[in-house]
Amino acid sequence: MTAPHHPDAAWRRLHDAATQPYRQAGRFAWHFARGKLARDPIFRGLIEQGLIAPGQRRVLDIGCGQGLFVSLLSSMGEMQARRHWPAGWSATPMRVDYTGIELMPRDIARATRAVGHLQPAPAFVCGDMCDAPLPPSDLVVILDVLHYVDLQAQEGVLSRVRQALQQGAAERDDGTPARLLLRVGDAASRRGYRISQWVDRTVTRVRGHRVAPTWGRPLHEWTALLQRLGFAVHSLPMSQGTPFANVLLVADLK
Ligand SMILES: C[S@@+](CC[C@H](N)C(=O)[O-])C[C@H]1O[C@@H](n2cnc3c(N)ncnc32)[C@H](O)[C@@H]1O
Repeated sequence: MTAPHHPDAAWRRLHDAATQPYRQAGRFAWHFARGKLARDPIFRGLIEQGLIAPGQRRVLDIGCGQGLFVSLLSSMGEMQARRHWPAGWSATPMRVDYTGIELMPRDIARATRAVGHLQPAPAFVCGDMCDAPLPPSDLVVILDVLHYVDLQAQEGVLSRVRQALQQGAAERDDGTPARLLLRVGDAASRRGYRISQWVDRTVTRVRGHRVAPTWGRPLHEWTALLQRLGFAVHSLPMSQGTPFANVLLVADLK
């Protein structure tokens, strides 16, 4: 039998806890949350690779969709408080001050219905990442979002993210890295990139949105851009178990 704090058992518990609130947000929200958290390797990967530090309390999630990440963070805090956290998993923040920015009003509505009740209350902002104000932050997460805007706009967002992290870092001095977690497709891996773009367009349609053009870069260009903006960067493959060419860039302010 699996021990209670075995990582697989803990992950199942976390999956259930983080997706449960979506029951009250309709069938689509519920099934989407269940499937996304189960199949996308990034969520468990962030935990198992210790990429979120306990001091990264002010979290900004750009392109937050229906707010699944704040639900996960909150459930992670609860599991740690109840000492249900596997010994091999690093600690993460017990409570987060979360801001999610999302272009689509329908996603904001689903997010608010599902996880608007969490404490501290998450702030969901319906706006365009290209001009929405970014609050001072300890951790910025941008998962599969930047390709929706052109290359110049991508650079504009990343440059303002750096400012938000710099402001956050100036307000504390506990040595916690000010971090951007950016997942992108590697346009140099042609097959995986094409598949992810096809799936992206299909999901966009299913969610009832208009399909628009997208802009990608090869991994080395993403890395060079972040370095030019003043980040120390390393990349991790982040599409295990899927046919995509997704990469997670872990970018810390220098
Ligand atoms: C592929 S989904 C990823 C959602 C979420 N980050 C996740 O990993 O579950 C991309 C999200 O970015 C949002 N988005 C696209 N362009 C945006 C923009 N200019 N400003 C804010 N959000 C945007 C989309 O509406 C969508 O919810």
